[in-house]
Amino acid sequence: MPFVERTPLIAGNWKMNLDHLQAIALVQKVAWALQDARHDYAATEVAVFPPFTDLRSVQTLLAADKLSLALGAQDLSPHESGAYTGDISAAMLAKLDVAYALVGHSERRGGHGESDETVGLKARAASAAGVVPVICVGETAEDLEQHGAAAIPLAQITAALEHLPRDAEFVVAYEPVWAIGSGQAATPQQAEDVARALRERLRDVRDDERAAATRILYGGSVTSQNIAGFLGQPNVDGALVGGASLKADEFSRIVQFKKHVTAA
Ligand code: 13P
Repeated sequence: MPFVERTPLIAGNWKMNLDHLQAIALVQKVAWALQDARHDYAATEVAVFPPFTDLRSVQTLLAADKLSLALGAQDLSPHESGAYTGDISAAMLAKLDVAYALVGHSERRGGHGESDETVGLKARAASAAGVVPVICVGETAEDLEQHGAAAIPLAQITAALEHLPRDAEFVVAYEPVWAIGSGQAATPQQAEDVARALRERLRDVRDDERAAATRILYGGSVTSQNIAGFLGQPNVDGALVGGASLKADEFSRIVQFKKHVTAA
């Protein structure tokens, strides 16, 4: 596989938390904390994924203060436009400078019955509008017992990628469902094993270059205490952080994981 330096991505998925005023306050605090720490955004990319109603406010703040955080959406419609009440299109997101969109988060697969096909079509819609899809995959505790850790994530990514053009950029987020919000993160080795299997699958269904360039994130009970272990793995290129992304100090410590590694 060709050697490509992958820029780590630390992404905060706020889920259904914080109104637009609270969103502005949190982004300001994160940006200040990272400024104090002289964070190098080119060395570690930082993205926040607020609820839809916050996106415009956060976009305005990022632009006005020339902040280098990237903006992400938590979902999007697979359709371009039209009679889809309640849906938000990729073009609308792109117009708000949204760089990334989560697709197939387990809370949407589980709570809204999203199939692999829907996830793939959402990824395609995002990509067509210039928004990079972050394709979420992960096994439940039952899956883990029955099939092992990698089988379901591999099946999910393979099915989703069938709908995405071959040359489209994407990010993969491996989030074991049992680790989400449970305080019970996977071990770094567990995350690495699945990330490596996912990268091998990317090589099979795409090519060496895409497999080498694609960032694979780990998500599930990530904290400032365990982040360095995950990012120390060769195939883990970042984190998708839920609960801990709602606290400015904690999230900025996670973003600065390289310092923990040096300090250790
Ligand atoms: P927690 O970090 O709260 O476990 O959530 C992970 C997650 O689902 C991020 O998308």
